[in-house]
Amino acid sequence: MKMMVALTLSGAGLTAYATAEPVKEGNPAAAVAAYGEKFRPQFHFTPKINWTNDPNGLVCYKGEYHFFFQHNPSGINWGNMTWGHAVSKDLVHWTQLDNAIAPDKLGTIFSGSAVVDWENTSGFGTADSKAMVCIYTAAGENGVPFTQCIAYTTDGRKFTKYDKNPVLPHIIGSNRDPKVIWYAPEKKWVMALFLDGDTYALFESKDLKAWTKLQDVKFPGHGECPDFFPMPVDGNKDNQKWVFTAANGDYLIGTFDGKVFTTDGNATRADYGANYYAVQTYSDIPAADGRRIQISWMNGGKYPDMPFNQQMSFPCEMKLRTFPEGLRICRLPVAEIKNIQGKNHTWKDQSIKTGENLLKDVAGGLYDIQMQVDLAGAKSLVIKCRGEAVTYSAEKKSVACLGKEAPAEPSNGKITLRILVDRTSLEVFANDGKAVMTSCFLPAPENTSLELSAEGGTPKILSMSVHELKSAWPTGK
Ligand code: FRU
Repeated sequence: MKMMVALTLSGAGLTAYATAEPVKEGNPAAAVAAYGEKFRPQFHFTPKINWTNDPNGLVCYKGEYHFFFQHNPSGINWGNMTWGHAVSKDLVHWTQLDNAIAPDKLGTIFSGSAVVDWENTSGFGTADSKAMVCIYTAAGENGVPFTQCIAYTTDGRKFTKYDKNPVLPHIIGSNRDPKVIWYAPEKKWVMALFLDGDTYALFESKDLKAWTKLQDVKFPGHGECPDFFPMPVDGNKDNQKWVFTAANGDYLIGTFDGKVFTTDGNATRADYGANYYAVQTYSDIPAADGRRIQISWMNGGKYPDMPFNQQMSFPCEMKLRTFPEGLRICRLPVAEIKNIQGKNHTWKDQSIKTGENLLKDVAGGLYDIQMQVDLAGAKSLVIKCRGEAVTYSAEKKSVACLGKEAPAEPSNGKITLRILVDRTSLEVFANDGKAVMTSCFLPAPENTSLELSAEGGTPKILSMSVHELKSAWPTGK
């Protein structure tokens, strides 16, 4: 029997929730993944086999980073949506586990979030073991509407659906993608939910089971996968702002008093690349750590002849900083990337001369490139990564790659660039993460080269480091 699901317009273009293959018994954890396949990202999450899209339920629970993902357990394309599951101790090395939440009579399992219920508001925990509660959309079918449901676990491995699901009945259209946070001042939960068109809404609950609407949130031109969280301004915990993100990461900044979110202004663009979507940040990162870490689906990548389809972005730490033009979120790879950094090549105070490629001796094809450059009046700087140019144009004050462009104003004639190069992705972070471009590409597997060159002048490398990266997979190469 074929399953029919809804057809919707998504911020990423037209997402057709079209006819899907029936769910077959599938245990991806039992599947053998080589992880060394030629187009298998080596330090970005991919499922062993089959399709993935959104990151779901990002939560830190009992010392592990849990990572759930929209998954088709039995097909290489979208369908049969199920929550796949992986865990990591460092956000870099992932172990895929059995699927966590499977379709049922309320529908397939669309995107959502997870929280640790520290105060056992739901009653799902025990004295010794706090529960992790997952809040997801059941996507209905055959006349069953989209509703919001919950499931819980006390060991991070076995998940039980709440027997009185749904906890939030259908409101409108394909309402979906609940993101829940704990609002400590009032000891309550707050849910951000996508309703329809460009409208989201906030809800509150004391127990994760009964929800009351607080308000609508309009986000012109945006839809799906909301996230909602406070961030300290310039690291000052006494000066918090609230951030509301849409699926593509674009964000509204404002205030929230527990009842009403009020935006300070218009949306700000989060990413200038081609493949950044369905963003979500981690819940319950220990207070002593306190980071705000975001992961996205790198929607639209191509993986010819691979057993899996689609990949995630590298986890990034977000910071809210003050600039002359206002508050901006800056994003950089999490520090744990050091766990896969191998040989390091470094340079200091060196000019980029014509005909000389400083990067000719790097090897392996997986790189973490960091540089601080004094443009010294040069027109442009080009870093060719596995054949694909990342170009900084001094004239345009922007960085360009794979047909996309991001503004990057130099400061005193200097810029910083960080580039992560994997087998099928290029992530460019300009000016300490103020402008980010997250993109998929498909370089020839044998082209592992890096080339550095300049045009119209001789820029000076103030400092540069290129780490060759190791595969994060146990059997990857
Ligand atoms: C975003 C999205 C979500 C939905 C999920 C279905 O990519 O369309 O709105 O929950 O994917 O897989």
